[in-house]
Formats: sequence, C-alpha cells, structure tokens
Amino acid sequence: MEKIGLIGLGNMGEAILKALISSGYKSEDLFFSEIKPERAEFIAKRFKITHVNDIKQIVNKVKYIIVAVKPQDAKKTLEDMIPNINEENVIISIMAGVSISKILSFSSKEFKVVRAMPNICAKVGQSITAITSNKKVEKHELKEVKKILSSIGHVVEINEGHMDAMTALSGSGPAFVLFFLEAMIDAGVKMGLAREKSKEIVVQVLKGTVEMLEKENLHPTMLKEMVTSPGGTTIYGLTYLEEKAFKGNLIKAIERAAKRAGELSI
Ligand SMILES: NC(=O)c1ccc[n+]([C@@H]2O[C@H](COP(=O)([O-])OP(=O)(O)OC[C@H]3O[C@@H](n4cnc5c(N)ncnc54)[C@H](OP(=O)(O)O)[C@@H]3O)[C@@H](O)[C@H]2O)c1
Repeated sequence: MEKIGLIGLGNMGEAILKALISSGYKSEDLFFSEIKPERAEFIAKRFKITHVNDIKQIVNKVKYIIVAVKPQDAKKTLEDMIPNINEENVIISIMAGVSISKILSFSSKEFKVVRAMPNICAKVGQSITAITSNKKVEKHELKEVKKILSSIGHVVEINEGHMDAMTALSGSGPAFVLFFLEAMIDAGVKMGLAREKSKEIVVQVLKGTVEMLEKENLHPTMLKEMVTSPGGTTIYGLTYLEEKAFKGNLIKAIERAAKRAGELSI
C-alpha cells in the first residue's frame, strides 16, 4: 500500500484518517502534521500514527499528501511544504476554493496536484467527493487517489471549471437538504404530531425515497409521478409549490451559493 501523509488534522483530516484506517490502511503507512501540539499528541495517541513535526519532512516519507488545512492557512502551509516536494509526490488538496494554479504558483517547477472537494458526509463515509487534476498526474496515480478518497464515500471526476457548482451542490448541499427536512418536520408539528415522531417519519421518508431512486434506478420525475395520482393529495401539494416557484427558487439558491464560491476562490 502507498504511504499517505495528512497535513492538518481538524474535522476533515480526522474524518479522512479514520476512514483510511477502517478501509485497511496500516498505521505505519500513515503520517501526519498538525500545527497544534495538543491536537497532534491526541491524534498520534488515538490512532497510533507518526506525527511529523516539520512538514518539510513529510514529503520524503510519503507519496500522497492530503492537504486539509483551512484555505486561509493555504499560503503558509504551501510555502513551507512545496519547495521540498519531489517528482513523485502527489498533492491532494481538499482546501475549498484553492485552485490548482494557485497551488502550482508556490513553485517554479510543475508538480502533481489533485484538487478534491469532499463534503461533511465524509464523517460517516458518505461523502461525494469531486476530483480534478493537472496533466502531470498519471492515470494509475489518479486511480490510487480515487481509491484513497473512496474510503470517505463516492468519488466523481469533474472539470475544474465545475468546482464552484460542486461546492454549491455538494459542499452546501447537506444544508439545503436539512433546511427542507426541517420544514417538513415543522409541517408535521403544525399538524399536531410530536416533534420527535415527525422527525422519525420525515427522516425515513427521505431514506426510503433515496433508496427507491437508487434501487429502482428511476429518474426522480418517474418516481414522483408514481405517487401523484389524478386529483389526489400529492398533486394539490405540488401545485402549491409550483405556484410559489419552489424549483426555480431552489435552483437560484444553489446558483447563488456557486457564485459565492467563485467570489471566495483564490
Ligand atoms: N468541513 C467540510 O465540510 C469541508 C468540505 C470540503 C472541504 N473542506 C476543506 O477542508 C479543509 C479543512 O477543513 P476543516 O473543517 O477540517 O478545518 P479545521 O478543523 O480548521 O482543520 C484544519 C487543521 O489544520 C491545522 N493547521 C493549520 N495550518 C497548519 C499547518 N501549516 N500544518 C499543519 N496543520 C495546520 C489547524 O490548526 P489551527 O486551528 O491552529 O489553524 C487545524 O487543526 C478546509 O480547507 C476546508 O475548505 C471542508
């Protein structure tokens, strides 16, 4: 198995580390660097992996380096690390909004970069992670990166030009879904159901719908039509949503999030 280094062991770094260990990566093949000493000590003890104090050294110990620091720490982190990277290293950056060209700008020589965009569902192994890379990354290396990142969920390849859309759809996506879920739970409460009961019902509706969609391999419109009988309850509800431009507003909301992602990009 290839050796992997993780820079920044915060929320995402820890989620990735846990997933790597559960999918069979051995502690001795994993190295990390974390700036906060007490956090570094906690991670080293809990996962029995080696902490590398000086991030310059991590590049010689591993082939794949996952950079999971906040975008505002990108400059300092990359300035410290990039001058030491070698021909074989593959940088996997999960920093939101940090472009491949920005990462490459820290060296005069081109090196291998994969930009990845996971989402919070990585914590339960259900991330949807988009990846894009520069030409230096070879096919077998990209395959290995997919294998590494599939430990936190599903991986898709996209063009870097679609990263802002991805950020809105999948990064912010869980918040949109939860907002919708919250409204449905409130609707149950408004109609007299206890909050916990309403939540239990709505969560199962969501799980069941998603599973139907996957198992039956249907387009959402087909599935929707299956529960929309002529003159029935569903069409009355859907008509109201259409009157209020629910779909159009949701599309606009996601476009706004994507635009904001572009504004925050470096
Ligand atoms: N959370 C998400 O859902 C999500 C989704 C997609 C992408 N991302 C991206 O994932 C990255 C990490 O997010 P997060 O929520 O895990 O952040 P986080 O909890 O702040 O974790 C980053 C960790 O890295 C440490 N650090 C900073 N500079 C360092 C350096 N030079 N060397 C070693 N460690 C360093 C930080 O220490 P200090 O706290 O002392 O700075 C912190 O412990 C971000 O770039 C974010 O854009 C997050």
